[in-house]
Amino acid sequence: MKRVLVTGGAGFIGSNFVQYMLSNKENIELLVNLDALTYAGNLENLTEVQNDKRYKFVKGDIRDKELVEKLFCEYDFDTVVHFAAESHVDRSIEEPELFLTTNIVGTQTLLDAAKRHWKIQPNDKYSCDYRDGVKYLQVSTDEVYGALGETGMFTETTPLSPNSPYSASKASADLIVRAYHETYGMPVNITRCSNNYGPYQFPEKLIPLMIHNARNDKALPVYGDGMQIRDWLHVSDHCAAIATVLEKGKIGEVYNIGGNNEKANIEIVRLILAELGKPESLITYVKDRPGHDRRYAIDNTKITTELGWAPVYTFEQGIKETINWYLDNVEWVERITTGDYLNYYTKMYENI
Ligand code: NAD
Ligand code: DAU
Repeated sequence: MKRVLVTGGAGFIGSNFVQYMLSNKENIELLVNLDALTYAGNLENLTEVQNDKRYKFVKGDIRDKELVEKLFCEYDFDTVVHFAAESHVDRSIEEPELFLTTNIVGTQTLLDAAKRHWKIQPNDKYSCDYRDGVKYLQVSTDEVYGALGETGMFTETTPLSPNSPYSASKASADLIVRAYHETYGMPVNITRCSNNYGPYQFPEKLIPLMIHNARNDKALPVYGDGMQIRDWLHVSDHCAAIATVLEKGKIGEVYNIGGNNEKANIEIVRLILAELGKPESLITYVKDRPGHDRRYAIDNTKITTELGWAPVYTFEQGIKETINWYLDNVEWVERITTGDYLNYYTKMYENI
């Protein structure tokens, strides 16, 4: 039975992962979700699990050493899945410092607590206290590899070459995780996934933003020429891949995660307009993002051949379901755009 610490479990992928684990994995004894509830954290993503006896929410910051240490002592975690991060590239261009402290120092704080609690000593690979199932999983991103030209794909051995403050902070965190493995023998894995889409994504990111604007007949802001390419994966396929790495990943290894699904941004925008029956005149080309990566593409050979994971969703099915989810959950989006979702914590947890 597993005692799991999930960080950032109130965000987009984290909340999908918490739901995925509690509904699909019978070996979860306890799942603690540590989340600071920044603007991106929304407990309304988790209403389906909030009464599950195995689930506990803790509002707190991954950079708060005392709190993180206390949680390890109190709950005796054997697994850490680290999602918590500042995740939006455009915001990182405006406010790099926040990205460096959250994404780098936050990662180190967690690693230190896990190292102490798991009694891992320098050079003591998988030390005497190493138990079957003790694992620290760093949720990283394909953006650490930088940008591709018209050909080629990112493999796990592609050199790190991040271009934005966000991706530089994620690459730095990856290197620290690697160093804790090499130096102390921390039982780690790093996963690097391509762009996710699906329910509960904050409407600052391309797909939910475009659905929201199209529905409201507002302009759809396409950066530059709209020909940048992203490799899209349904969030539930990402969650299943992380669960697979937790179960079968070889300690110390990096696994790329992607679904071989490259699309230019403008294709996605046109598809959304067509699905909603809205005119292409809503498309508005705007100033490009500085340092905008032209193309990402993941080579998923390692995880598919060595661990047997494969995506379930086709993009055609996934994007339709996703568009319908946002149309069926207009209230969820409205509560974000009006800021009402920020009151949910106070309402639900003020007496705890
Ligand atoms: P998100 O922005 O939707 O969620 C981030 C969560 O982290 C929020 O709930 C937020 O409250 C929490 N958080 C932020 N700072 C915190 C802190 N200091 N302490 C505790 N909690 C804090 O992000 P997401 O899109 O769900 O991404 C989750 C992870 O997956 C990130 O590490 C990101 O780099 C990675 N990732 C994302 C994608 C993608 O397409 N969205 C793809 C690959 C990897
Ligand atoms: O590749 C994985 C990464 O994908 C994750 O690590 C990041 O956390 C996640 O935010 C995402 O980064 P992107 O920058 O690719 O996602 P975003 O949704 O911000 O943008 C997708 C593409 O769409 C990108 O080329 C920029 C473009 N774009 C985005 C927005 C918000 C627009 O043209 N207009 C927009 O308004």
